[in-house]
Amino acid sequence: MRVVVEKDYEAMSRCATDLVQKAIEKDPQCLVRFPGGDTPVGMLREFVSRVNSGMIDPTGVKFVQLDDWVGIGPQDEGSCSHFVNTQLLTPMHRPFADKFLFDGSRIAAIDCQLKEQDAFIRRYGPIAVEVLGIGMNGHLGFNENGVDFSLRSHRTPLSAVTKAVQKKYFGGRELPLAEGITQGIAQIMESELVILLASGVQKAEIVFKAITGQVTNELPASILQKHPNCIWLLDQDAAGLLPRELVEMKNP
Ligand code: GLP
Repeated sequence: MRVVVEKDYEAMSRCATDLVQKAIEKDPQCLVRFPGGDTPVGMLREFVSRVNSGMIDPTGVKFVQLDDWVGIGPQDEGSCSHFVNTQLLTPMHRPFADKFLFDGSRIAAIDCQLKEQDAFIRRYGPIAVEVLGIGMNGHLGFNENGVDFSLRSHRTPLSAVTKAVQKKYFGGRELPLAEGITQGIAQIMESELVILLASGVQKAEIVFKAITGQVTNELPASILQKHPNCIWLLDQDAAGLLPRELVEMKNP
């Protein structure tokens, strides 16, 4: 596990895109996964810009979504599929070769979509590069506190912390969302490269605990200590509590 610290959010986002670009250059047919949330917005902007300027060729690459809310779909602002469409897929002038997105509003078909996602990953996988954010409770995707680390794609109740945080994605509105769909920790651990992005002082404490504490399913991101090729890519604020000797400072 490496912990790389960039001076700010923009530098962190560029560095993440560099790593993704390198993985795509190594295998232009590879499978990639990027998260939702606020943290990856800069990386996605940079990724789209490099696609549109011809620096990155996405036309052999496959894309699979990480997680979503049960009850809302691509038509709903604040859903992860809406985010992926508006921040990534629509602005890209050249599309990915194939993609898998959830539709959380098709509630009767959730189990079927989870099977389809697993099949999509089996078909194109392993995931060459998996970019993740971290929740305020240490969740990865919607792998919430207490998650079974052996699960693959699954449906899960949302934790109290996630329910409290979620309104930031919906313009401050409280939606009655109680469940999520997510890829599982087993699939994250099978990815060839994991990049965990975290930015801002509000993430400093959970980042510190996940990197320096015991590996426990009560803090799901701690499992990344056991991943053979994981990079924690942080800005200085998110890295603020980490001991200096643990981190590689880039362009301080
Ligand atoms: C959200 C999503 C995750 C995301 C994490 C952090 O609830 N389920 O996929 O990575 O929490 O989000 P943010 O980047 O907005 O802090």
